[in-house]
Amino acid sequence: MTYLENQFGLKDKLAVITGGGGALCGAIAGGFLKAGAKIVLWGHKMSTLEEKKNELIKDGAKSEYIELYEVNLLEEAQINSALEATTASMGHVEILLNGVGGSSVRTALTETDSADFERIINLNLMAGCFLPTKCFASYWIKNNIRGTVLNIASMASFNPLSGAWGYSAAKAAVMNQTVAHARELADFGIRVNAIAPGFFLGKQNRKLLQNEDGTPTTRGQNVLAHTPARRFGNPEELCAAAIFLCSPGASFINGVTLPVDGGYLCHNI
Ligand SMILES: NC(=O)c1ccc[n+]([C@@H]2O[C@H](COP(=O)([O-])OP(=O)(O)OC[C@H]3O[C@@H](n4cnc5c(N)ncnc54)[C@H](O)[C@@H]3O)[C@@H](O)[C@H]2O)c1
Repeated sequence: MTYLENQFGLKDKLAVITGGGGALCGAIAGGFLKAGAKIVLWGHKMSTLEEKKNELIKDGAKSEYIELYEVNLLEEAQINSALEATTASMGHVEILLNGVGGSSVRTALTETDSADFERIINLNLMAGCFLPTKCFASYWIKNNIRGTVLNIASMASFNPLSGAWGYSAAKAAVMNQTVAHARELADFGIRVNAIAPGFFLGKQNRKLLQNEDGTPTTRGQNVLAHTPARRFGNPEELCAAAIFLCSPGASFINGVTLPVDGGYLCHNI
């Protein structure tokens, strides 16, 4: 293996990618495969996962490097069963990419439905971070595996996005838990980091950011005006940061949230 493959490759590592049928983590899944990993996509709709697997195979991935599990990440018992089934069929898992999350809801504070707020917190914080990390950490500690977790934070982790009440609260908590989990699990050789994507045209936020004719909406224009790169991100642009943080070369990096945002966070006037 070359120096770069040794440091930054994922050869023969097994990664579970939750929400792996989605726009961003589906793209990262492609990057993981190209870096040599085997992957298991977890999501709550088998048809979405199968569609993603076909796309990855069309892009050159080997079918035997990809497995799929239908699992509701809001249910701790289902996570534990899927983990058991995954290890039984593919061997030990070393990487957990917590990719479930999102929200397309934008409302005034006074119009915000409390049940919706709670649902979005549950999706992004419970399913998207706390529950899978708890289950995987317990499995890794029991089996003496030095695993690594990658969370998906957001620009909302740093500064709330207008109208996105539950989402901003949950993503701030994801960044907080990244630090807390890193500190707690370091004693077991487990690392926990996050990437914070800027604005990407995913399934959920495309309508918020882009009109049907491809021009940016008013919100999209505001985002672009605030992004020094003056464009939205392309999901493939998340791969390098995700692979790096999960690779052996990042062995001394723990508890960080790395923005991949076209400079959104360094905007000034
Ligand atoms: N798109 C962006 O610009 C952007 C920016 C910052 C952060 N993010 C974050 O990146 C992550 C992925 O976003 P995306 O835009 O790719 O979303 P997406 O909707 O395309 O993908 C999410 C996937 O999670 C699955 N899922 C939802 N609920 C589930 C559950 N309970 N159990 C199992 N699977 C479930 C869905 O089926 C879907 O395939 C999210 O955490 C999101 O908040 C996205």
